[in-house]
Amino acid sequence: MPVPRKIIIDTDPGQDDAVAILLALGSPEFDILGITAVAGNVPLKLTEKNARKICELAGRPDIKVYSGAIRPLIRELVTAEEVHGKTGLNGPELPEPTMKLEEQHAVDYLVETLMREEAGTVTLCPLGPLTNVALALIREPRIAPRIKEIVLMGGGFFEGGNVTPSAEFNIYVDPHAADVVFRSGVPIVMMPLDVTHKALTTTKRIDAFRQLGTRVGLATAQMLEFFERYDEGKYGTDGGPLHDPCVIAYLIKPELFQGRHCNVTVETASELTMGMTVVDWWGVTKRPKNAIVMRDIDHDGFFALLVERLGRL
Ligand code: RIB
Ligand code: CA
Repeated sequence: MPVPRKIIIDTDPGQDDAVAILLALGSPEFDILGITAVAGNVPLKLTEKNARKICELAGRPDIKVYSGAIRPLIRELVTAEEVHGKTGLNGPELPEPTMKLEEQHAVDYLVETLMREEAGTVTLCPLGPLTNVALALIREPRIAPRIKEIVLMGGGFFEGGNVTPSAEFNIYVDPHAADVVFRSGVPIVMMPLDVTHKALTTTKRIDAFRQLGTRVGLATAQMLEFFERYDEGKYGTDGGPLHDPCVIAYLIKPELFQGRHCNVTVETASELTMGMTVVDWWGVTKRPKNAIVMRDIDHDGFFALLVERLGRL
């Protein structure tokens, strides 16, 4: 077994974030240094609580959870209760967490950890707005060359947007933070809507979680049944896109995904296209290639991995 990969998950749970966290917790490939919560799907006081609820659901109250940015760098916070429910984790009845929230601010934790750990050994896994990551890069620019890579869920190009015609939620909520991250020079792997929209939580796939016959399996089925209903109504599909677990699945089995190294530039000026990720897929500009942009996924292999790993919890 190779040395486990050190990761920090930055997240705004959110049912799909929750499944991504469960996938990481069920996978021996990772040494999860910490989980940092950010405002996004629901306000920060709920995302940090939800992160702790998921750790306890997985029987991992030892995981360190930190609370981070309460709002985007410049814009007002936009949340998504219409998708995730009032609690952000609607679906299962999960008990209030008893594990503690770490005292240290998430941004301080990110800077301190990246300055302490051996350079090039820590991978950041942002699953929500990029506010915490951008603040850490601004607070201590020396962390940039020390980050192994950033594997993030966010953006969309050929698929358009999901919160405006041109912008995906994570980037739209904090486009200025996304701009900082995409200009940072840190190697980025991007899971945009172009790939996550090919990973649908069909009825059959949700039943596979329920058939695990475990607390985690049942809670996952209940979370996804709630989570998918908004997108099923919007797209008229059987199931909704399962966004955030693509980040963790890539780190376990990169061969599940196909993409291309491109330039990605974030719109931060036009109100019409605010937060749009402009992907130079055909290399028509001389802008530096700053991200591997994923467009295809072996979705059957993805869900098989999810069921197998969540079955270990
Ligand atoms: O657009 C999808 C993304 O926005 C996912 O990360 C979901 O959890 C929300 O944060
Ligand atoms: Ca998320």
